[in-house]
Amino acid sequence: MSTYVISGGKKLEGVVSVSGSKNASLPILAACVLNNGITKLYNVPNIHDTKVMLDILKYLGCRIKKNRDKIVIDARKIEKYEIPEELMRKMRSSVILAGALIGRFKKATFSCPGGCDIGARPIDLHLKVFENLGINIVKDTGYIQCKCDTIEASKITLDFPSVGATENAILASVFAVGTTTIINAAMEPEIVDLQNFLNKIGAKINGAGTNEITIKGVTNLKDSGYKVMPDRIEAGTLLCAGAITGGNITLKNVIPEHITPVIQKLEECGCSLKIKGDQIMLRSPKKLKAIDIKTMPYPGFPTDMQAIFASILTIAKGTSVIIENIFENRYKYASELGRMGAKFTIEGRTAIIKGVRKLNGANVQATDLRGGAALVLAGLASKGKTRVENIEYILRGYENLDTKLNSIGAKITKEV
Ligand code: EPZ
Repeated sequence: MSTYVISGGKKLEGVVSVSGSKNASLPILAACVLNNGITKLYNVPNIHDTKVMLDILKYLGCRIKKNRDKIVIDARKIEKYEIPEELMRKMRSSVILAGALIGRFKKATFSCPGGCDIGARPIDLHLKVFENLGINIVKDTGYIQCKCDTIEASKITLDFPSVGATENAILASVFAVGTTTIINAAMEPEIVDLQNFLNKIGAKINGAGTNEITIKGVTNLKDSGYKVMPDRIEAGTLLCAGAITGGNITLKNVIPEHITPVIQKLEECGCSLKIKGDQIMLRSPKKLKAIDIKTMPYPGFPTDMQAIFASILTIAKGTSVIIENIFENRYKYASELGRMGAKFTIEGRTAIIKGVRKLNGANVQATDLRGGAALVLAGLASKGKTRVENIEYILRGYENLDTKLNSIGAKITKEV
């Protein structure tokens, strides 16, 4: 496993550009299966998770051409409808391929997906969506087989606004006979990006970004190109990197309204932020103030920013309280931050963080994607050297994070 070696204590200053969104790219890559033709995608981040998704598309029979800025996906020769277990285990989001395969071929076989170690992450809501659409589901020896003669448009009410289940409901009903309605749908910007992409290739979807989405079944789609939205969690991560080092940074290629709750919390901590088009300027205070955070489905504070924001609160003045309402086990990073001097008390879904004057460099291990990013930020703020091991977790979701941070004054080297 590889390691980041961080020499901390430097203020970050300068301008850095945000890459395309991992969590919009993955469902859009899966959605390319629906088009019996050729689709061009731009601004897809070159990260581990998009590579895994492309490997699965190739396994299914897609022909992929990839250069620095563009990915061309030819889905005319798909001849497999089963996602192999080893690829499913590598990444939870592969479950959205099921919706796309069912949408186009009315069948899919897959195993329960893997993913970050942040909780059980069941797929019961996904399966309920498929049943609502008249799809027969057979579970045996760890595999799930889905099959139907026609996909029946229906009214689907989600018990919880699950992002993945909403995406699967959209993907599986693009060619349904009639109009499908999703009630209590997830409202994340990535769902809006998926709708915009699908409508560009000929689908008829409305309402993404609200809690009620309608999908009017069509009979075919067309070739087109699409540019994926910027990554709002990478944007939040880079802003927090500026804040934890007392720096002044500018982000380019962002959609500020995608991270309003993060901007608001950074202002509550004493940062001043200016928004100009697709740029956000952040100036940090001498000392950050402790605040309270509750993670919520969008448009609330994003769970993916919980660990990252916690890292900046470890050196804030006062005591902060975080409540994680989305995943049941998303504090694994806390003990690693404790090795650097952070003061955490974890009680179930609540974390109490007593701000300390400073953190000290230490050897720490990434436990998951966002927890790993939190450790990098803590290393940037610490005097001395921090070694963050198991950075493969971080490489799943951040494109060239070390290069980006070094371009604004950090000192990070990668040991393979
Ligand atoms: C997506 O995961 C994101 N991943 C996650 O980002 C993000 O944290 C999450 O949405 C919430 O915003 C991608 O988009 C690839 P959910 P997803 O279904 O779809 C429970 C990152 O760091 N649930 O909204 O898996 C589930 O256990 C990743 O980039 C069920 O109970 O999230 C969780 O507690 C991490 N049954 C909650 O709902 C189900 O069938 C939210 O899950 C599905 C989900």
